[in-house]
Amino acid sequence: MEYTILGTSDLKVSKIGLGTWQYGTEGWGFGADFTEQEALATVDKALEIGINLLDTAEVYGDGRSEEIVGKALAEHRGEVILATKVLPRHLRPRDLVRACEESLKRLKIDQIDLYQIHAAEPYVPLAESMDVLAKLVDRGVIRYVGVSNFSVPLLRAAEEAFSGRIISNQVRYNLLQRDIEAEVLPYCREHSITVIAYSPLAQGLVTGKYDRDHLPADKIRQRNPLFREENLVQVFPVIDLLRHIGNEHGATPAQVALRWVTAQDGVIAIPGAKRPEQVEENAGALDWSLSMDELARLDTASTDLELSYF
Ligand SMILES: NC(=O)c1ccc[n+]([C@@H]2O[C@H](COP(=O)([O-])OP(=O)(O)OC[C@H]3O[C@@H](n4cnc5c(N)ncnc54)[C@H](OP(=O)(O)O)[C@@H]3O)[C@@H](O)[C@H]2O)c1
Repeated sequence: MEYTILGTSDLKVSKIGLGTWQYGTEGWGFGADFTEQEALATVDKALEIGINLLDTAEVYGDGRSEEIVGKALAEHRGEVILATKVLPRHLRPRDLVRACEESLKRLKIDQIDLYQIHAAEPYVPLAESMDVLAKLVDRGVIRYVGVSNFSVPLLRAAEEAFSGRIISNQVRYNLLQRDIEAEVLPYCREHSITVIAYSPLAQGLVTGKYDRDHLPADKIRQRNPLFREENLVQVFPVIDLLRHIGNEHGATPAQVALRWVTAQDGVIAIPGAKRPEQVEENAGALDWSLSMDELARLDTASTDLELSYF
């Protein structure tokens, strides 16, 4: 396992963490095909193989994900860097304190290692929320503050308003969706803010398990424009390249895709996994390297994608 430090903090995290949005989202189909037991077994496997960063959010499964992660944490609290998120609609001072307390209760812990603003809320002055977050750090109920889905102007405003340091920005980043490279990633690098890449497997698309006759049936991916024909026609050749490069290394397309993300300076990834086998495969993306030539080929193949989000 490879580890790195999150931003300017003293948190040492695995470069591949575990995303747990899937847990408790039965109603959306994303998590309908597995049980709480499988979720717990997946977290156990992750910890066993050295993954120590668990990412959840109050909104995932309306709190179910935090409850499941809390159960998994019971015997492992000391080994885990626990990251959760507060909803935009809970960013008003009084709501923020309450949201944090309720997350702590569901997680059955007394301190959150990384508390992230899930996304900005246009109707609440950011400075008010940052002020409360600073107080929560002072009270010791959160160790560090991160943000998610923040653009450069929002990052700038958050940094100006916060008395401490923002240590991470959790944003979508995968080989097919590289938008953050224009502004967000350079800014984060310059300001020692770690980018935590979500959807690093493009919700499973880059694992190579889908073709036109076998597309995902769940609501979340059916609404994801990546899985539409006009995009798939561009994406499949990139997946062929992942497969081809993987063959050279005895690696799967998922592992090459995650290796690519984690090879980017200042970036770690939190693939979601539902089964122990997936988590093991994903962790197998580390401890080997892509050559400069392979990185360049992946870069060329994915830079000019013209994806449509209609
Ligand atoms: N901050 C935000 O706004 C935000 C937004 C989205 C996600 N996130 C976080 O990021 C995490 C990951 O993002 P994501 O779930 O959107 O996408 P992802 O990690 O790209 O894809 C996860 C899905 O891919 C499939 N998968 C995982 N490993 C696999 C493997 N080795 N082989 C084949 N399939 C595999 C699984 O679904 P199947 O088995 O059903 O195919 C899994 O649910 C989430 O859990 C959450 O913690 C944050």
